[in-house]
Amino acid sequence: MNLTLKIWRQKSNTDKGSLETYPISDVSEDMSFLEMLDVLNEELIEKEIEPVAFDHDCREGICGMCSLYINGEAHGPDRRVTTCQLHMRKFNDGDTIFIEPFRANSFPVVKDLVVDRSSFDRIQQAGGYVSVNTSGNTQDANSIPIPKDDADTAFDAATCIGCGACVASCKNSSAMLFVSAKVSQFSLLPQGQVEAKERVINMVNKMDEEGFGNCTNTGACEVECPKGISLDNISRMNREFITANVKK
Ligand code: SF4
Ligand code: FES
Repeated sequence: MNLTLKIWRQKSNTDKGSLETYPISDVSEDMSFLEMLDVLNEELIEKEIEPVAFDHDCREGICGMCSLYINGEAHGPDRRVTTCQLHMRKFNDGDTIFIEPFRANSFPVVKDLVVDRSSFDRIQQAGGYVSVNTSGNTQDANSIPIPKDDADTAFDAATCIGCGACVASCKNSSAMLFVSAKVSQFSLLPQGQVEAKERVINMVNKMDEEGFGNCTNTGACEVECPKGISLDNISRMNREFITANVKK
């Protein structure tokens, strides 16, 4: 395939940035999207042009680093896949592909397609954990029966990889899908009960403090989420948040 890439180039956080055009030829439909960018970067290096900066790590849909806005969609046109799992067979010979960073005030651009998502880390640090008693008197987890549906729902929530596509897809730049997944993965299990109230209050407050918007039930986040995190998690988090504030 021969393609035209329109890629966002921005030298630094303070640079204005612009879309630059790069033709690329002989792209195999079996390449992943990131492999295609690797090939482009090799060509740019040969021409002594600064390669395009983009985030990636695992390249198998686990780490959540490869966050690109492709033709106006977070992680591109495929469903339930990350950018690293997106294959060039989803595009056609002659296509023009627009590649931009995730755009949200709480995800400032670092360089080109790389954004700073440390706001997510700070929300996690505000409560996205359980404090485990390792005194020697800890109850064996297998001795606590957990309804299968609860275990499955908690596991589904725990598959959130923190990529930020939900924020990038939301007209309000809301992080509610991410935060609600992190709250739900604990709130459905006995281990999460001890710190449940502080967790939801602290994480939601931190989310607001970091400048993310609110949820207006549009549902774009659920559609674009590569892990299929359900909007039900947001309802659960809202219930938890109200209850925690009432019973404080
Ligand atoms: S909820 Fe989905 S889109 Fe949002 S951070 Fe988690 S995996 Fe990414
Ligand atoms: S590089 Fe890890 S999810 Fe894509």
